Amino acid sequence: MSFTWRCPSNIAFVKYWGKKPNQLPCNASLSMILSASYSEVRLELKEKKSKEEIEIDYFFENKKNELFEEKVKRYIEKNRIYFPSVLQFRLRFDSTNSFPHSAGIASSASAFGAIALALLDAEYSLTNKALDTYFYQKASSLARLGSGSASRSILPAFSVWGKVEGFETSSDEFAVPVLEVHKHFQNLKDTILIVDNQPKSVSSTIGHSLMQNHPFASNRFTQANERVKTMIEILRQGDEEQFIHIVESEALTLHAMMMTSNEYYLLMKPNTLQIIEEIWRFRKQTNIPICFTLDAGPNVHIIYPESYQKEVRYFLKNNCNNYKIDSIFDEIGLGPKKMNEIIA
Ligand code: PMV
Repeated sequence: MSFTWRCPSNIAFVKYWGKKPNQLPCNASLSMILSASYSEVRLELKEKKSKEEIEIDYFFENKKNELFEEKVKRYIEKNRIYFPSVLQFRLRFDSTNSFPHSAGIASSASAFGAIALALLDAEYSLTNKALDTYFYQKASSLARLGSGSASRSILPAFSVWGKVEGFETSSDEFAVPVLEVHKHFQNLKDTILIVDNQPKSVSSTIGHSLMQNHPFASNRFTQANERVKTMIEILRQGDEEQFIHIVESEALTLHAMMMTSNEYYLLMKPNTLQIIEEIWRFRKQTNIPICFTLDAGPNVHIIYPESYQKEVRYFLKNNCNNYKIDSIFDEIGLGPKKMNEIIA
């Protein structure tokens, strides 16, 4: 028996940075799911070879990946109560990413999204349960336990993870959809300029933990919670100027948190700043509603409406080509997808 899921990555417009025990966030966050950048995970249930509680093999691009196997094993061990029927089997995972490993873009959200979906789908199938809305809520919560931002990779278009005042269905445990989205934001593009593809000098796990004794932590958490509320309203009303303001400020605030932690560090590179300056110049000259955001790394996500695709491509080719080593042309997506098995 096998279960295959394709799960896209997502890009946060209001950032999650700082966590409490059990992968609960210190503040709410809001993101857009992508389309071209995804992980695909096939979970095969096989007969067990021993009496061990958890038997697992993890293959990434056809090669055994012991580091990730250990991580997934620990994840399943911790969350074993959710998969009692699945754990009667030996688990073989085969995973791939649509983006090159060297791209330096975060894959933990898409990978844990797909892993949680495959495990839960297997559990549901073994217990004859249907894949209803509750399935996706549970998958979001289980994905969160693997990687916080993965909770937001389970839903189409825009989603919010974290309890937001006045947004009754929102929760710290799983992501919920933002349902009212103005046409200005329904066809957003995200072109990712890869500035550097080397492993990060400080991991996100360490970055989150440095928020614990951060001098600006409590103000930052309040600001992010407020911004999620404002952003929900902006998405509803279609205010592009306000959208750009929050998205760019969030990227810079995330990096400012890194630069002001104890230990301080820096993940942006000179070319990250060159691209930001180019975007600002281009926006001023053309009035095209284009903006940038950053993840916890040096690569620049360039966000713009599909209707300006031609102008932006021209701009990227002429003004940004020297600052990047690769590009990924991505856009707003429809969420994860269960893949049909092709049986030879
Ligand atoms: O999901 P994690 O633990 O890898 O944290 C990701 C945090 C950011 O990508 C920097 C921000 C976010 O909200 O996605």
